[in-house]
Amino acid sequence: MTRRVLAILAFAGLLTGSPALAADGAKTFQLQCKTCHGAKSTPMGPSLAGVAGRKIAGLADFKYSAGLTAKAGATWTDANLDAYLAAPAKFAPGTKMMTGVANPADRAAVVAYVKALK
Ligand code: HEC
Repeated sequence: MTRRVLAILAFAGLLTGSPALAADGAKTFQLQCKTCHGAKSTPMGPSLAGVAGRKIAGLADFKYSAGLTAKAGATWTDANLDAYLAAPAKFAPGTKMMTGVANPADRAAVVAYVKALK
């Protein structure tokens, strides 16, 4: 398991040019996201595996709020991930997700990590 995580982080580092960034993001993710976002969708939250480049509110196995579904025409680009995590209710008024990551550096790191989830 640890090896797999390390492999994912190494891969993320290759893509972003910053292994340290994704590694910092992994820590933040464990602390602030993992309770609701696992490998599979649960009633707590949708799976984030492959979320980068996916349609917003795009999984069939999760019941999204009307707020996030209103954004469903768009894609999870870096900019949209950043904006949602900066201020979830501002990006998608009515979203069920309340938690964001206020600090821009922490947010960039968690986005780098989330983008590597496959
Ligand atoms: C308390 C539970 C909870 C926590 C903690 C949480 N989320 Fe969420 N997240 C959700 C829920 C619920 C949704 C669906 C929101 C909706 O339908 O409005 C969601 C949606 C998302 C989406 C959009 C997924 C999609 O399929 O469109 C992303 C990206 C995301 N969360 C990232 C994160 C990150 C990164 C963190 C940690 C910083 C985090 N979330 C923390 C519950 C949570």
